[in-house]
Amino acid sequence: MIYPIVMYGDPVLRQRATDVEPGTDLKQLIDDMFETMHAAQGIGLAAPQIGKSIRLFVVDGTGLEKDDDEAEEGMEDFKKAFINPEMLDELGTPWAFEEGCLSIPNIREKILRKETIRIRYYNENWELKEEEYDGMKARIIQHEYDHIEGKLFIDYLTSLKKRMLKGKLTDISRGAVKTEYRILAPLKK
Ligand code: NI
Repeated sequence: MIYPIVMYGDPVLRQRATDVEPGTDLKQLIDDMFETMHAAQGIGLAAPQIGKSIRLFVVDGTGLEKDDDEAEEGMEDFKKAFINPEMLDELGTPWAFEEGCLSIPNIREKILRKETIRIRYYNENWELKEEEYDGMKARIIQHEYDHIEGKLFIDYLTSLKKRMLKGKLTDISRGAVKTEYRILAPLKK
């Protein structure tokens, strides 16, 4: 099932999502999240973006492999679900990359993020994992992890930049934005 994607301005994107009861069967929901993300050409999707305030996100960077970009190497197995993740550490030199978000269509901005992370989470089989990621993988996880903390990539912009984007963001909240996927806009009349 493909869910509509919740747009900027919806309060669900600003809540700190709650832990999932360990052992809960999330198979169908995870499948649906992958399907929703793929249909929207995304590389990450967090549960709040489909209106569910739970600590769950999925990533799939396998499509980036062919891009031939050094930062995007080693993506062939980077298709995962993260349940109840806990960011343990973020280290290294911050580096900039232009990010986008399915909940904030048609806006891309350079965002600084630290190079390396350590994260603890349950996978889709409820196996506890503790792993280290760097580069683009770390960035994708950092962006999705922010979603379950109620944070968005535009929060990192300067106030000037935010002011400049205000009109566009209001349009997005009203659903006045062109996307190739179904959206749920909080201020749509
Ligand atoms: Ni996003």
